[in-house]
This record gives sequence, structure tokens and C-alpha cells, in this order.
Amino acid sequence: MKYRNLGLSGLKVSEISLGSWLTFGGVVAEEESVRAIRRAYELGVNFFDTANAYNRGQAEEVLGRALSGFRRESLVVATKAFFPMDEGPNDRGLSRKHLFEQCEASLRRLGLDYLDLYQCHRSDDSTPLEETLRALDDLQAQGKILYAGVSEWPAERIRQAALLGRQMNLRPLVSDQPGYNLLWRDSEAGVLEACREEGLGWVVYSPLAQGVLTGKYRPGSKPGKGTRAADKRQNMFMARLMSPRNLKRVQAMAGLARRLKLTPGQLALAWCLRLPETASVITGATRVAQVEENVKASGVQLPKAALDELERLFPREGAGN
Ligand SMILES: NC(=O)c1ccc[n+]([C@@H]2O[C@H](COP(=O)([O-])OP(=O)(O)OC[C@H]3O[C@@H](n4cnc5c(N)ncnc54)[C@H](OP(=O)(O)O)[C@@H]3O)[C@@H](O)[C@H]2O)c1
Repeated sequence: MKYRNLGLSGLKVSEISLGSWLTFGGVVAEEESVRAIRRAYELGVNFFDTANAYNRGQAEEVLGRALSGFRRESLVVATKAFFPMDEGPNDRGLSRKHLFEQCEASLRRLGLDYLDLYQCHRSDDSTPLEETLRALDDLQAQGKILYAGVSEWPAERIRQAALLGRQMNLRPLVSDQPGYNLLWRDSEAGVLEACREEGLGWVVYSPLAQGVLTGKYRPGSKPGKGTRAADKRQNMFMARLMSPRNLKRVQAMAGLARRLKLTPGQLALAWCLRLPETASVITGATRVAQVEENVKASGVQLPKAALDELERLFPREGAGN
């Protein structure tokens, strides 16, 4: 496994990381979740991503139990806050109150004394940016979190936050977590440049387009049993990724992967890692074998001809075309 610095910080994260949306504490049984998480760790994954809202805290609880035997210093644990955790007006968003309360709650659920990375899951127009940034800085001063980042913030908000942070003399944001893959390149338009200029590293989510880029969904065939696309509890954001055109070009990409002696999924992950701004790709996994396959994408250098071929197959235009 290779490691990269997270943005301009000194923190090193594994190129391949493991997330827990829908899977751990969700559709994957705890025993299998723990096996997958521990296998990832054995294979060099040090960066584990979760969120308070993933199954209302249950993902954090399972992740915490799975990681509890490992040396704390060897782990980079990231979680997030923003989405509702209860029905009240203060049970969501990026206010000082909610961030302080949810940071404590996440620490409790994960069984940790501090979080390595605390991320704002979305931006919150109903809270002054100054308040959110000050709260994140205070959590760092208290040692509750070591670094702070954002997810799916518009480019303009990232720039504003960086400028305000400098004016207020705060610790800088170190990361952004955009959705990014061969079928969904929207973040390249403006967010990438903002992050590059302001020193935020990318920790990319859904790098396999929720499994579509592994090539296991065939044009004209029903999704196989046990896959995310076949499961109503999980496939709510998959329809646009699985257009006939997308499935067809993923099959063409699988041919390129074979020639490179990679699996389609490994090729898709290596493509995200071609950007120096990408510190890590946050994969999801429902079983150990997927983890074992995905980690092998670390360190893969794609030849220019392969990158050109991928550019031709998946020009920058967003998903669903
Ligand atoms: N910040 C945000 O708003 C946000 C949003 C979404 C996700 N995330 C983070 O990013 C993480 C990853 O997201 P994601 O789960 O959408 O990522 P993904 O890696 O694109 O998709 C993961 C899914 O693809 C399938 N898969 C993975 N490896 C495979 C392999 N080698 N062969 C065949 N199928 C394979 C598995 O589903 P099946 O086996 O069920 O088919 C797995 O659960 C999340 O866990 C979360 O931590 C963040």
C-alpha cells in the first residue's frame, strides 16, 4: 500500500481507503463487516471513513468495534456531521452547538478519544461560515479532532472558507470529499481548481460508481442477486449511473483493463488516483474479496495511451448520458 499526504497537511493516508455508507452497520452483517475492515487494515489501509448519519450512528459503532484492537496511532479515522440525527431544529447542520454535540457523540460511538479528520458532510447556508470554522478550530484546540475537512461544498464556498480562515487566523481545512469517478466527473469543473489553489486534498467517494465500474452489471441483463443495484434499500442513487450507454462503455473499459492486467475496478480506482490532488479513494465493500481486489489498485501507474483511451470513452460530461 502506498500513502499520500492529505492536502498540505503532514497526515499520511492510504491511497485506498474504506468507507461505511450503506454497508457496515447497515446491509452487511456485523461479522462480515468486521472481517472486511480488519482485512483492509492488514493490507495496509489506514484511512477509514464514516459519518454520524450512516444508519444513525450504527456505522460508527460497528467501525469502532472492528478497529478497537488496533494501535490507535496506526489509524486515521474520519467521520462527518451535517445530516439530521433527530427531529429537532438543532439536530442537524453545522452550528457550533450541533458540531460540538455530534463530535462527542461520534467519539462515544467509535470508542475513541479523538477523531483524525472531522468533515462537514455538506455546506450549511443557515449557519454563518465564521461560526462553523471557529467551532472546527476550537475542536482542534481541544484535541477532540486533529484535522477538519468538507464534503460536496461548492467551489465558491471552499474559497470563501479558505479566505475567512486566513483572516481569522484559523487552522486550515485540509480535505474535500467529492463524489468522483469515470461516470461522474462534475467536480473537475471548478471544485478541483479551488482545492488545488487552497491546498485541500481530495478523498474521493464512490470511486467505483457504487460498483458499476467493476463491470459486473451487463447491458440488457438484470443486476445479479446480492449486488447493490438489486437491493431496493441501497440502489436509490444508481439509476442514472446504470444507463444502457454507461453499461456499454464500462464493458469497453473492461477490455482495456484486461489488456493492462487489471480488473475494471482497479483501473477505475487507478484513474482517480492519477490526480496528484487525490490523496485517497474511499471504496465501499460488502465482502473481504472485494477489499482484497481493490487494494491492489494502489501504486498502479496508468500509461498515457490508457488515459487517452479512458478520456475518449468517458469524456467529462457528468453521469446519466
Ligand atoms: N461524502 C458523501 O456524501 C459520501 C457519499 C457516498 C459515499 N461516501 C463515502 O464513500 C464510501 C464509498 O462509497 P460507495 O460505497 O458508493 O463506493 P464504491 O466503492 O463506488 O462502491 C462500493 C460498492 O461497490 C461494490 N464493490 C466494491 N468493490 C467491488 C469489487 N471489487 N467487485 C465487485 N463489486 C464491488 C460493493 O457493492 P455490492 O457488493 O453490494 O454490489 C460496494 O459496496 C462510503 O462508504 C462512504 O464512506 C461519502
